[in-house]
Amino acid sequence: MSEKPYLHIKNLKINFKSFEGEKTIINIDEIKINKGEAYGIIGESGTGKTVLALSILQLLEMPPGKIVNGQILLEGEDLLKKTQKQMQREIRGKKISMIFQDPMSTLNPVFTVGEQMIKVIIENQKLNKKEAYRKAVEMINIVKLPDAERVMDKYPHELSGGQRQRVIIALALSCGAEFIIADEPTRNLDVTIQAGILKLIKELQRNLKVTVLFIANNPGLISATCDNAGVLYKGEIIEKGTTKEILKNPQHPYTFTLLNAIPKNKDTKIDLSKVIPPNDGEEIKEGCIYYNRCLKKQENCKKEQKLINVKDTHYVKCSLYKEGVNNEQ
Ligand SMILES: Nc1ncnc2c1ncn2[C@@H]1O[C@H](COP(=O)(O)OP(=O)(O)OP(=O)(O)O)[C@@H](O)[C@H]1O
Ligand code: SF4
Ligand SMILES: [Mg+2]
Repeated sequence: MSEKPYLHIKNLKINFKSFEGEKTIINIDEIKINKGEAYGIIGESGTGKTVLALSILQLLEMPPGKIVNGQILLEGEDLLKKTQKQMQREIRGKKISMIFQDPMSTLNPVFTVGEQMIKVIIENQKLNKKEAYRKAVEMINIVKLPDAERVMDKYPHELSGGQRQRVIIALALSCGAEFIIADEPTRNLDVTIQAGILKLIKELQRNLKVTVLFIANNPGLISATCDNAGVLYKGEIIEKGTTKEILKNPQHPYTFTLLNAIPKNKDTKIDLSKVIPPNDGEEIKEGCIYYNRCLKKQENCKKEQKLINVKDTHYVKCSLYKEGVNNEQ
């Protein structure tokens, strides 16, 4: 892949301070997302997905959060070097918008959808009220909510969960954002509604050439949505590649266990924390992050692990593999 990435995360380390001291929450060697692609991050609850998403937008609360080192380059410019003012003026909403798993955390219950959309559009684009209204209707149509003018007059509580999530996507796009971070946007929705939102995200990526970072707890959700993906475990990317490489041919013992545990019926929800082996209590200070759960561990695993290219665009962070050898199993 010689193309210069649109978003390039390099050596990102984020700690959280607590009474017990500092704990590393994110320790990512590298993630590259190309312009116009949908990139998936999968990982179980508490693994750092939201912390990662918030850090891209500099929305992480600091303290307790602390960026220890690293870069988050958007088209070559380090977002971590920008001031809050610059992030507000140039990046949030204008270039990058975030869709949270709970739409009510974004929508204000006391204003109609139309009032909220028009306000955001006027704040971000040089349009008068009438033009902003037209733009808002256009965006509601784009997210395929029927009867857009009626939707404009509704309060958030008058919409279903799926409709609210579509409004959020319309809001995210209405300021011209070209990069959407979708943090488990379908987690609280039932399966059919979930499928509709995933389809919509995929269509927006294809038709509007929006770049998407799609975060999911359930690996099954990325198959229809994402081109490439990374598996996050305790803040580290332990495997990455094309979605097909990850889902069809997982190599890291954690990903392998995880994917084999997914029910064949993709509509069944799984609790990822219940499918991986239990912590055997053996702590190591350095080395593999999965060590105390891994059933394949060996002495080598106590050394620092690096992402190793196992085949084509497929990378794994595990001592069972050797760099430069086609050793996909
Ligand atoms: N403000 C905070 N202060 C201290 N620790 C935090 C804070 N926010 C998150 N953490 C810790 O960081 C880790 C990652 O949390 P994060 O919310 O990113 O997980 P997640 O992968 O998004 O989980 P979920 O799938 O449940 O949304 C967790 O261990 C969490 O306890
Ligand atoms: S490095 Fe070792 S402990 Fe870690 S996943 Fe690979 S085999 Fe298991
Ligand atoms: Mg989260």
